[in-house]
Amino acid sequence: MAQNILITGGAGFIGSKLSLRLLAKGHHVRVLDTLSAQIHGADAETSALFRSIQGKVEFFRGSVTNREDLMKVLPGVDTVVHLAAETGTGQSMYAIRHYSDVNIGGTALLLDVIANEPVPVRKIVVASSRAVYGEGKYECVEHGYVFPLSRSARDMARGDFDVHCPVCGVPARMVCTDEESPVRPASVYGITKLTQEQLVLTVGKALGVSAIAFRYQNVYGPGQSLSNPYTGILSVFSTRIRNGGNINIFEDGKESRDFVFIDDVVSATVQGIEHEAPVVDAFNVGSGKATDVGTMAQMLQHNLGKTVPVAVSGQFRIGDIRHNVADLRKVRAAFGFEPVVSIEAGLRLFTEWVGSERVQEDRYEESLRELGAKGLLK
Ligand SMILES: NC(=O)c1ccc[n+]([C@@H]2O[C@H](COP(=O)([O-])OP(=O)(O)OC[C@H]3O[C@@H](n4cnc5c(N)ncnc54)[C@H](O)[C@@H]3O)[C@@H](O)[C@H]2O)c1
Ligand SMILES: [Zn+2]
Repeated sequence: MAQNILITGGAGFIGSKLSLRLLAKGHHVRVLDTLSAQIHGADAETSALFRSIQGKVEFFRGSVTNREDLMKVLPGVDTVVHLAAETGTGQSMYAIRHYSDVNIGGTALLLDVIANEPVPVRKIVVASSRAVYGEGKYECVEHGYVFPLSRSARDMARGDFDVHCPVCGVPARMVCTDEESPVRPASVYGITKLTQEQLVLTVGKALGVSAIAFRYQNVYGPGQSLSNPYTGILSVFSTRIRNGGNINIFEDGKESRDFVFIDDVVSATVQGIEHEAPVVDAFNVGSGKATDVGTMAQMLQHNLGKTVPVAVSGQFRIGDIRHNVADLRKVRAAFGFEPVVSIEAGLRLFTEWVGSERVQEDRYEESLRELGAKGLLK
């Protein structure tokens, strides 16, 4: 059945692709987005992401932190997909108040309006993140499954980047993190994502509104911001490779992430939106596979046809996790979600798109200097 869907942050990377898929499926899509300069550039009218949805969705420029803006866009809406957020983990460690205001404050205000105004919302889907887990789930040969706290700056400064068993201290092995794992965000960003999902699930349940939190892993694909130096190592590395700069890989290059292609993320989100039965719960969305950062740097150079000096620097950022891979059993069982794009196929599509884009000004060094000055890059 066609729904009236509001997507906050719907001009962003995930939101724009989700908008187009929902429109193609016959839904009505309204978007509320500030068109923030960090994502869309100083002149929003030239933003490719914005232009991809312009004239197709019902667009409102405004903020989830402004009650009047929300009052304008909520009437008549069945389903809210709440994607608007600040998304840089490193940046969140000093822009603390701002991250809290936008991510937590915006979500609280959205729910406040839904709870107190006569709007017909029946479902809320919120973009959460694997960042809610912190280091996530590991296995110790002696002690079975363990959930270690974030690594200490002291160990990492010695070049020991492993995650250790919290009981006996020996290096522990990464396993897939499932939704029953304890939530232990290791960054301000992670805290805001956790609070967002707890607010949505708790208020949704109380109001009898379906509520779904999707814990997205590292989403990549055509259209992701190449100019935002605070997020996405794929963007950062590609821009460096194209500019002929060197790549500086943190730690020992063996840190890994679950890279999930944008189309798979959109599929999972649509499955949640179209799911008829009531649900109030959180679900992982990922590829279910880990790729280490060193390998990723090699694959990108290969695809972009350019070799640059790669330094594995041993530097590290406070708040970064070591490894990450999602357990997908729950989202598979609930919605039938199955990722279909392999990392090889996804990276090909990503680098083809990168090659067709204007080379961005490289602001990465500047972002690292910023982190360094705040004592967050060691
Ligand atoms: N991309 C990922 O890898 C990833 C991983 C986990 C979770 N997420 C979450 O998914 C969501 C979307 O991520 P994305 O990668 O598309 O990010 P994005 O930055 O491309 O999109 C976010 C959009 O929100 C808008 N926005 C920012 N502040 C706003 C405000 N106050 N009011 C209205 N709009 C505002 C921005 O202009 C932008 O268009 C975010 O909540 C993010 O935390 C993303
Ligand atoms: Zn142990």
